[in-house]
Amino acid sequence: MQIFYGKAALMEYLTSIKTTNSSIGFVPTMGALHEGHQSLMLQSTKENDITVVSIFVNPTQFNNPEDLEKYPRTLETDIIKIASINPDIIVFAPTVDDMYEGKTLSQSFDFDGLENKMEGKFRPGHFDGVGTIVKRLFEIVKPTKAYFGEKDFQQVQIVKKMVEKNQLPVIIIVCPIYREINNLAMSSRNERLTLHEREEAAIIYKILNEAKAKFSKSSAEKTTQWVNNEFKKNKTFTLEYFEIADEKTLTTCKRKNKNKKYRAFIAVFVNNIRLIDTISLN
Ligand code: PAF
Repeated sequence: MQIFYGKAALMEYLTSIKTTNSSIGFVPTMGALHEGHQSLMLQSTKENDITVVSIFVNPTQFNNPEDLEKYPRTLETDIIKIASINPDIIVFAPTVDDMYEGKTLSQSFDFDGLENKMEGKFRPGHFDGVGTIVKRLFEIVKPTKAYFGEKDFQQVQIVKKMVEKNQLPVIIIVCPIYREINNLAMSSRNERLTLHEREEAAIIYKILNEAKAKFSKSSAEKTTQWVNNEFKKNKTFTLEYFEIADEKTLTTCKRKNKNKKYRAFIAVFVNNIRLIDTISLN
């Protein structure tokens, strides 16, 4: 198995194995790999000659120092998991210094307003950090296709916008959300939950599903109000936001339009751990 801890060595290796026709699939991750990540890797190995997985906890996308500090780092187990999927997968696990060359700062992006909504509103600077690292990783790996999970739907829209604006020659592939048995969306942050919190977290998807049913008969405002009330009754979870938004523009739905596709987005806190989820509404 090939593992690289620095970009120069990875780039040199990729140049040496690539032919003019070979395709590179890329799965960017922050590690603590779960089945959702595994599904992205499997799809990439099926669709490409070469697959690269990056494992890098990117400091510039964390607006909360405690979240960055406590983010699970499980490189050894991650490497074993990757090898069990396919030992030909190339792992890129760079250091912060290698990626940022002494200046751990993000570039400032204009994502046509997508960056100011939901995650962007509640995590200032988050999407500049994501844009900076994803662009840098794309420049290093030069992928044909890059694979992202739908759970981070807003991130996917941001990455697509970045690709479009910078005319990067990469196809963005969006893969479905993987859920635990109780329907909690898989996330590396789930590792930080207690067993009890993890069980209770079933409420997030349950409420999303009920909101979907309500939205089919009533307005976005009433549905949002209902979700807010449900979380007021809950002692374990604190709702940060629930939004019903247009899938394309991510603008809040004020009045339903039959021709638009809507999606519900949610972020909740449990014991300082932040969980997000999303569901398509029509
Ligand atoms: O979704 C993630 O894990 C991260 O935001 C990403 C895309 C790897 C960038 O650091």
